[in-house]
Amino acid sequence: MGQRITLPKVAQMKEASQRIVCVTAYDYTFAQLVDRAGVDIILVGDSLGMVVQGHETTLPVTLDDMIYHTTAVVRGSQRSMVICDFPFGICQSPKEMVLAAAVRIMKESGCDGVKIEGGEVVADTIRYLTRQQIPVVAHVGLTPQSVKFFGGFKVQGKDKPEADKILVDALAVEAAGAFAVVLEGIPPILASEITEKLSIPTIGIGAGVECDGQVLVIYDLLGLNDDFKPKFVKQYMHGADLINTALKQFTKEVREGVFPGPDQQ
Ligand code: KIV
Repeated sequence: MGQRITLPKVAQMKEASQRIVCVTAYDYTFAQLVDRAGVDIILVGDSLGMVVQGHETTLPVTLDDMIYHTTAVVRGSQRSMVICDFPFGICQSPKEMVLAAAVRIMKESGCDGVKIEGGEVVADTIRYLTRQQIPVVAHVGLTPQSVKFFGGFKVQGKDKPEADKILVDALAVEAAGAFAVVLEGIPPILASEITEKLSIPTIGIGAGVECDGQVLVIYDLLGLNDDFKPKFVKQYMHGADLINTALKQFTKEVREGVFPGPDQQ
């Protein structure tokens, strides 16, 4: 069994201008596929609330949900670093409870760190956790847990005051000890400025090509959801069509008594 990607390795990748590849996964089988493809970081995102559980937002996801999925992903991977999202509500709690949640996540799932949405406002929490040796990835810009506050999943930082605030957020989470920061749904020019100013790596989603790395939701990049194709997503295959064809063929063969054939008996 090889060693997983470590924190110092991620820092070195920024120094060496080597782009960081991050993909979400939520279960054992996908974790195996992602790990074997050589992806650096597997994010068990709370996007699972939408793409696995079918909610409209990530807000209903619980700590137990995150631990359940992260445990399966850790079992399915050997080389990738595995990061677990803090679900909505944890960072709004007293800091001792936040630490207890982080310890539960890391102890029960075996993952390598946690991701926390928010900037300046969660900087003290990030500082508290990193002093207790909990590795933290921060997440600024379009933070999906703030969807009700933003009034939708809208690009953030389009005007100067908003852009300045996002830069302040990114600097604050870096100063607090985050080892990387996700930049989501912000103008590429702002992402580029933040990437230049920060010494920790930036990992972009809908934030242009100048970030130190990129992350996508696995179901989006595999084209599994025909109803969701925002501009920042590239479908590397049309998974929904392929799966539909396979399932139709299976249905036909079962109905016609062709499956199981001689090879399957
Ligand atoms: O929950 C998630 O999957 C995420 C990524 C899209 C960055 O936060």
